[in-house]
Amino acid sequence: MFLNSMSASNFRNYEASVISDLSPGVNVFAGPNAAGKTNLLEAVYYLSRGISFRTRNDREAVRTGAFRAHLQGVSEYENHLTLIDVAFTTEPRSKRVEINDVRQKNLLELPLYAVLFVPDDLNLARGGALLRRRWIDNAISLLRPKYGEILGRFRQVYDAKTVILKGRIVNPHLLSVYNEQIARYSAELAWYRSLWIEKLAPIANEFHLRLSGGAETLSLEYKLSCGEPGSREEIRERYLERLNSHETAEISSARCLIGAHKDDMLITINGDREQYWSQGQTRTAALSLKFAEREFIHRDIGRYPLLLLDDVLSELDAERKSFVLEKISEGQTFLTTCETLDDIGEYKLFHVKQLHSDLQGTKPYN
Ligand SMILES: Nc1ncnc2c1ncn2[C@@H]1O[C@H](COP(=O)(O)OP(=O)(O)OP(=O)(O)O)[C@@H](O)[C@H]1O
Ligand SMILES: [Mg+2]
Repeated sequence: MFLNSMSASNFRNYEASVISDLSPGVNVFAGPNAAGKTNLLEAVYYLSRGISFRTRNDREAVRTGAFRAHLQGVSEYENHLTLIDVAFTTEPRSKRVEINDVRQKNLLELPLYAVLFVPDDLNLARGGALLRRRWIDNAISLLRPKYGEILGRFRQVYDAKTVILKGRIVNPHLLSVYNEQIARYSAELAWYRSLWIEKLAPIANEFHLRLSGGAETLSLEYKLSCGEPGSREEIRERYLERLNSHETAEISSARCLIGAHKDDMLITINGDREQYWSQGQTRTAALSLKFAEREFIHRDIGRYPLLLLDDVLSELDAERKSFVLEKISEGQTFLTTCETLDDIGEYKLFHVKQLHSDLQGTKPYN
């Protein structure tokens, strides 16, 4: 499974660009700062997920002065070609995603899979719980569209309940209806997340052991905010009890204090929590998690997802870099860099500034 060509028009800083000869192996987008390298990765991400990884507001990605951004890609799998088409407009605001000319209602079922790695992800293991939850939510929705639907419903109820809590007069009946739903969706999300983490843990540990020369064990555990693990029904009941006992606190703070949006993933290295880790251990854990996510997808769907690495190699020391380089020999990779790369094996190089300027018919970069 790989992206064999793509085009972007009125997308970010691209007026009209086509790349018709992507490699099924490693593709390098090289060029100076602000040339549009990350924009190209974003375009690839749009083609695989229908959304951006940089903004929730698609309009930001429409080229300044234009009103409609249009991306197209052709994916290839076992000689079977699929045309992916994503377009969105500023005014009026609209968006359309098509696969082989058929409009898609659900963006969670596109033919390409992608795993993204940006420098911020190096804080994944030690950063805030929000970062980890987002990562987990994103990773599970990719493989289990049902999870994405539940998450969408949870967010709707969460938003509606927040509006109620912020109102001056809280209707107790309405609040209890919302609490029932928050408890139900939270239990479902927690169930999916626990299962995913349970399966991810040995893969992440395997990578971490390797990266640490066999010296360190990485353990993952889902941490419910409503107590100990249990069956889905037990978790739902526990959430509901907590919601009821925290009703006054939620009303006085005007915030949703209880639910799956407060859960986390506990990570330990040789039994130690993150406050004891060194900088290097933090990075190793992050790499292990991200590459475990990729390996998980590989085992689940039987092929490697696209790997998008934004400026990551320059952040890594020799040992971690060689781990990443070994991994990128599997599946299709897109990576951005400002530097010249001399030790990454075979790859196809795209000079981003040149690509951009040539296609716009302006002076090539030199
Ligand atoms: N909607 C837009 N319309 C026009 N240009 C845009 C838009 N959004 C971003 N840009 C331009 O894209 C450029 C940044 O592109 P990008 O982030 O891809 O750079 P980069 O090559 O990854 O740089 P770096 O090496 O610094 O990460 C900026 O010059 C910015 O002004
Ligand atoms: Mg960039």
